[in-house]
Amino acid sequence: MKTPWLLGLLAGLATPMAMAQPNPALLGNKGAFIADVLRQMTLDEKIGQLRLISFGPSMPASKLAEEVAAGRVGGSFGVVSRPEQRPLQDAAMQRSRMKIPVFFAYDVVHGHRTTFPIGLGLASSWDLEAVRLSARVAAQEASADGIDFTFAPTVDIARDPRWGRTSEGFGEDPHLVSQMARAMVKGFQNDSAAKPDSLMASVKHFALYGAVEGGRDYNIVDMSPMRMYNDYLPPYRAAIDAGSGGVMLALNAVNGVPAAANTWLLQDLLRKDWGFKGVTLSDHGAIAELLRHGVARDEAEAAKLAIKAGVDMSMADESYIKELPGLLKSGQVQEGDIDNAVREVLGAKYDMGLFRDPFLRIGKAEDDPADLKADSRLNRAPARDVARKSMVLLENRNRTLPLRKTGTIALVGPLADSPVDILGAWSAQGVPALAVTLRQGMAAAIGDKARLLFARGANVTEDRSIVDYMNYPNGEAQEIVQDGRMPQEMIDEAVATAKQADVVVAAVGESRGMSHESSSRTRLDLPESQQALLKALKATGRPLVLVLMNGRPLTLGWEKANADAMLETWFAGTEGGNAIADVLFGDADPSGKLPISLPRSVGQIPTYYNFPRPGRPFTPGKPGNYTSQYFDEPQGALYPFGYGLSYTDFTLSNLVLSSRKVRKGRTLEASVTVKNSGDRAGDAVVQLYIQDVVASVVRPVKELKGFRKLKLQPGETQVVRFPIGETMLSFYNQQLKRVAEPGAFNVQVGLDSRDVLQESFELLP
Ligand code: BGC
Repeated sequence: MKTPWLLGLLAGLATPMAMAQPNPALLGNKGAFIADVLRQMTLDEKIGQLRLISFGPSMPASKLAEEVAAGRVGGSFGVVSRPEQRPLQDAAMQRSRMKIPVFFAYDVVHGHRTTFPIGLGLASSWDLEAVRLSARVAAQEASADGIDFTFAPTVDIARDPRWGRTSEGFGEDPHLVSQMARAMVKGFQNDSAAKPDSLMASVKHFALYGAVEGGRDYNIVDMSPMRMYNDYLPPYRAAIDAGSGGVMLALNAVNGVPAAANTWLLQDLLRKDWGFKGVTLSDHGAIAELLRHGVARDEAEAAKLAIKAGVDMSMADESYIKELPGLLKSGQVQEGDIDNAVREVLGAKYDMGLFRDPFLRIGKAEDDPADLKADSRLNRAPARDVARKSMVLLENRNRTLPLRKTGTIALVGPLADSPVDILGAWSAQGVPALAVTLRQGMAAAIGDKARLLFARGANVTEDRSIVDYMNYPNGEAQEIVQDGRMPQEMIDEAVATAKQADVVVAAVGESRGMSHESSSRTRLDLPESQQALLKALKATGRPLVLVLMNGRPLTLGWEKANADAMLETWFAGTEGGNAIADVLFGDADPSGKLPISLPRSVGQIPTYYNFPRPGRPFTPGKPGNYTSQYFDEPQGALYPFGYGLSYTDFTLSNLVLSSRKVRKGRTLEASVTVKNSGDRAGDAVVQLYIQDVVASVVRPVKELKGFRKLKLQPGETQVVRFPIGETMLSFYNQQLKRVAEPGAFNVQVGLDSRDVLQESFELLP
């Protein structure tokens, strides 16, 4: 009997390289282990590790397996089931010379099989534990499907809602988005990406993707360094400090140099200043796109720029695998450049636990789920709970909400019964047929206690070109199904339905594809078909409750003036319909707060609350010429950052600072009393804002620095305390040094960013 060892030796005599493979004896020492693997690799094998590739029509599974066996693949994305992954990992472990496992990546952004609310919805919860939990559940589900790595969280600050990807991130504020970034990474990785039910996170899109000019996707970003450091970079940094194993680069240029070729971004900032030790990935095709940006003359130059800048893996283009061998031969790229990248890829695989067990998440065939899409694989309870917390009550005249479960309720609107839309974009393996629509949720909530009537009332839009565009990114799915009736016919039916009811609930907004990658809009109002529907419903005189489903701030002037109640539900996920019904009927209190300002009009954008102070500020109550304003519209957001009503009332009082003066390095405390002055239990979000009154550079009017979400019973009072330390007072100055400058500070505490109590103190040197 020949031992495997002897077989290896014999094979090795024929081909000297054949014995190479990772040495398990070194597994206890990451650096030594990886150095040993690297030492044994051929140049082609090294370059192969840098390739992140998806399977699809041009790369069928059988071809992908051959590529893996040939050592030409580092990781794959979009392979999302264990029976599909297993042969690929077998190819790596049995047929490739180096026996380096491949990893499986996927866009697990807001859930995997169970879809949680989109990013804006998660952020609206202002509940870090809920957000962490959503990522934890997503990681458990995705890892059970053999996935090791997620392209998330998306932490791009978005201040221009024309940008469709506003939906994916957590809004406009550096502090809130940073907190969300941290919670997501904690949820995905759960302290170690090596655990079988963890995913490695890769924060994206580095950097500044949310600031694309004009909100037009893929457009350039041109930004002052101070703004970058103070506002846009902190969330990426927060994710990295929380341990994000990966960083995905943005598709845009950052001050003239595309992220995928940006040495300053990738080396000076990310590696040297921030000490990032993980793997960097280009976004989809971004290396080849360097040609179109016009910074590379051909693909070879693109590959050279990217590898020199520090892009470790090339996603979905062939630039590295095609061009690096030639570049090495001609001496334009050195083996050290490649080694640096390969080391990070191997390091990530090590950190994901794949060298110890390449099948850690793929498991054994006999344990594969019989039905991938089984309802029993969903985590409905947490999804419902988190979705409830993500809803923002914008209006509630005459206590129209909560609805009573009696009488007749008319439910109308193109989004009332649309299981695809409620999942939102990037819904991973979310199955529309398993999603609960609002119609289903309301029907379940009322049972036979009340009558629920339904009429669609309108299509999301009648604009054929928009429908065609929406159907394009989701290709064969053709997910927008138009009701072929004449618009007036649908409205008439809805009006007749409304007239039979005591109250009308209208689910309106965007189809999910309207708030997606490459879905920038010039208008942010409801499409005409829905506006016409709402006007006709209003004319019936029945109380009108709007349930908004959308992935970005919309301009809601008419709706604010005319709706009796208005609930922003974003795209609430698999359990969305149940969660919305819970809130509509008062089984849950709406406790979400806006993570982004809602503008009055597109012309007013950007509307972010924390804008730098102009020399001629507009002062409410003191109109006049020569101040910073638009003269043809009221000033300020329609609904401010941090805003959201509850079914109960909260009052804030007694803002007290522990001291009026504080020395640098010391902490003071702001305390405030919050009271539930209403007659129901509810959750308040107490928000702390700080304004640096005089500084060496122009500072924002105010900045969120802390928040606390707390449940209060009717009549209950609590004192909320915020420690205020030097980091909360500091900022990056013109030299990009983080400083807290002595002088006066205003401390504001409110239940939104606009209505606040204020006290002041002085920071002493
Ligand atoms: C998106 C990324 C995503 C990648 C892979 C790109 O088009 O910009 O956010 O992770 O595709 O699906």
